[in-house]
Amino acid sequence: MLVRYKKANEKIAMGLLSYMPGEKTVKKLQELIQQYETDDRWQLYLLKKEDDFIGLVGVEMGEDDYTLQHLSVNPSFRSEGIGKEMVKKLQALFPGKECLGTEETESFIQKCKETEEGAD
Ligand SMILES: CC(C)(COP(=O)(O)OP(=O)(O)OC[C@H]1O[C@@H](n2cnc3c(N)ncnc32)[C@H](O)[C@@H]1OP(=O)(O)O)[C@@H](O)C(=O)NCCC(=O)NCCS
Repeated sequence: MLVRYKKANEKIAMGLLSYMPGEKTVKKLQELIQQYETDDRWQLYLLKKEDDFIGLVGVEMGEDDYTLQHLSVNPSFRSEGIGKEMVKKLQALFPGKECLGTEETESFIQKCKETEEGAD
C-alpha cells in the first residue's frame, strides 16, 4: 500500500532517499524532504508492507505528466518486484498522466515498460 509521506516518517524517508545515486549528505537529504513538505507539486509516498515501510517514491507533478524524481527499495527487499510495483501504483494513482524520468530514474522506467510489454 502506498501511503502519503508524513512528518512522523521523516527518518525512514531520509533513510530510503539516501539509497538514491549521488552524494547524499544529511543536509542534502533534509533539503529534499523540505522540498516535498513545502512544494505542493512534489509528492512523496512510502510503500508499507505489513508494519514496515520498505520503499519510497517521489514525484514532481506537471499538468499532463509527472516526473519520477526518487525511487528506492530497502536493500533487503530488492529484486522481488517492489520497484516495479511502485511504478505501477503511481500510474493507478495518476491515470491519464505520462510518467517521465530523470537521469537517475529513466532507465528503471524503461525496464518497467519492457516488463509490461513482455507480459502482453
Ligand atoms: C532501482 C530499485 C528501486 C529497484 O527496486 P527493486 O524492487 O529491486 O526492482 P524490481 O524487483 O521491481 O525489478 C528488478 C529489475 O530491475 C533492474 N534494475 C534495478 N535497477 C535498475 C536501474 N537503475 N535501471 C534499470 N534497471 C534496473 C534489475 O536488474 C532487475 O532486472 P531483472 O528483472 O531483469 O532481473 C532499487 O534497486 C533501488 O532502490 N536502488 C537504489 C535507488 C536507485 O538507484 N534509484 C534510482 C533508479 S530508480
